[in-house]
Amino acid sequence: MSIKQLPSSTIKLVTSTQTVTSVSSVVKELMENALDAEAVNIDVKLENNGLDRIEVKDDGNGIKRTDVPYVCLPSYTSKICGFADLEKLHSYGFRGEALNAICHVADVTVTTRTSEDELAMVYTINNDGNIVTTKPSHFGKGTLVTVSGLFRNIPVRKSYLNSGRRAAEELKRVDSIVKCLAVIQPSLRVTFCHNKCLLWQKSACTSLRLSLMQVVGHFISSKLEELVLREPELSVDMLVPRRDTENVVAVCLSNVDCMMLYINRRPVRYKKLEKVSLYKPFNTSCLSSS
Ligand SMILES: Nc1ncnc2c1ncn2[C@@H]1O[C@H](COP(=O)(O)OP(=O)(O)OP(=O)(O)O)[C@@H](O)[C@H]1O
Ligand SMILES: [Mg+2]
Repeated sequence: MSIKQLPSSTIKLVTSTQTVTSVSSVVKELMENALDAEAVNIDVKLENNGLDRIEVKDDGNGIKRTDVPYVCLPSYTSKICGFADLEKLHSYGFRGEALNAICHVADVTVTTRTSEDELAMVYTINNDGNIVTTKPSHFGKGTLVTVSGLFRNIPVRKSYLNSGRRAAEELKRVDSIVKCLAVIQPSLRVTFCHNKCLLWQKSACTSLRLSLMQVVGHFISSKLEELVLREPELSVDMLVPRRDTENVVAVCLSNVDCMMLYINRRPVRYKKLEKVSLYKPFNTSCLSSS
């Protein structure tokens, strides 16, 4: 067979499904956008394990009216201007890819309001990332992204994720992503609901220990000690079980498996460390690992 370029619709689907692999990858991208927009309140809601609907609502900066037409177009970002900016990146996002990829595999609406806007607007976006309808709304400051019918146009992926066991695993993964991204921001308030049931919530607090306590509980949290390393170019903060035998045994018997690792507040997986650790990492298989 001779070499031919694929039709553009196929290219879009193939490349999008590399960024948007699952429900948890959508939640991760939308939560990271909310955090980049300096939100202090984030509400994540799923219906039917996220396959019918995913909603991420934040009270962040919102999107300027003049920027909205570009929000879901490929390679449009407000986070960097060029490659050199990657050296001093402070945001989670930088590729300008996530929302466009989500549009290719789902129906997306964006509701947003900045502090300058009198009224919020709801934008319906088509599969190419262009706005097709606009209407006003009473939404407060911030942004709400809704993603409906994820993978409706990729039946194989949808039925794979829809099977009972996999759907449950995927919900667990979403839970881990929400917790990982929430714990590292103590001042953040988060709620996570599935089919209108509240699965987890985190209130705003003042320290990493109090933040982690909302995942592992008071018993485990009280058994941890803080270790701090400060070098000119490197700063490491750890919360690990105190090393006296009694304490380690108590932690091991507690049935709480939890290892969360971050570089510059970005959740990561480091397999070598996972191997020597007593703890299983959170089930965040869509995070980068090394
Ligand atoms: N919740 C939000 N609040 C405010 N602005 C947002 C929000 N979500 C998206 N945006 C704006 O839309 C742009 C595109 O978002 P998108 O997630 O596609 O790309 P990105 O975050 O820049 O990069 P990446 O693809 O790495 O996530 C962002 O750069 C940001 O300006
Ligand atoms: Mg993003």
